[in-house]
Amino acid sequence: MSIIYGERIRLRAVERDDLKKYHEWLNDPEVTRGLALYLPLSMADEENWFDAMTKRDPNEKPFAIEIKKGKNWKLIGNCGFHALENQNRCGEVGIVIGDKTEWNKGYGAEAMTLLQRHGFETLNLNRVYLRVYADNVRAVRSYEHAGFVLEGRLREANYKHGKYEDVLLMGVLRSEWFKKKKK
Ligand SMILES: CC(C)(COP(=O)(O)OP(=O)(O)OC[C@H]1O[C@@H](n2cnc3c(N)ncnc32)[C@H](O)[C@@H]1OP(=O)(O)O)[C@@H](O)C(=O)NCCC(=O)NCCS
Repeated sequence: MSIIYGERIRLRAVERDDLKKYHEWLNDPEVTRGLALYLPLSMADEENWFDAMTKRDPNEKPFAIEIKKGKNWKLIGNCGFHALENQNRCGEVGIVIGDKTEWNKGYGAEAMTLLQRHGFETLNLNRVYLRVYADNVRAVRSYEHAGFVLEGRLREANYKHGKYEDVLLMGVLRSEWFKKKKK
């Protein structure tokens, strides 16, 4: 698979050299607040994750998200598909922008739009969906910008920071993607 280019970002394969950054970001409580991670991660955990990742279904390997900085590309996070279902033609997406200095600049929405393009126009999916903690307002807003609509609310489905919280299910259909593209 070749690199996927958007307007301001690109999605490339994850390299072992990226792990140092991931190790830093995924130990930052502000970053992991919206993620299903709650334990400190060692570099060995990261190495193990990387080794397991290289053996995954190629369509479920995550992408590194990079933004253009002058003549160079800067790594800011990762994103990708998992739980792809052949018969139902659907898949779940996930994203982490670990570099907090790059939050709220629209990169999350752009990365999700690129994943939709990849999902509908390359993987031939019919539905792309995600799960997000209800109190992760930045993420929800970003996903709405990318065209995801609320499909459901899983009440008190997640326990974190001493309380239960709802998990939102959001999705985009193939018909919605192509309708938006026509406009
Ligand atoms: C969630 C995440 C992917 C969003 O990406 P991003 O590039 O920061 O977000 P975007 O710039 O695309 O959109 C953020 C929107 O939320 C808004 N926002 C940010 N903080 C907000 C708050 N506290 N209340 C309301 N809106 C807020 C921003 O203003 C922006 O909306 P706008 O463009 O209408 O002004 C990224 O912040 C991230 O990876 N966070 C840490 C990990 C995480 O939570 N991942 C998601 C797991 S489901």
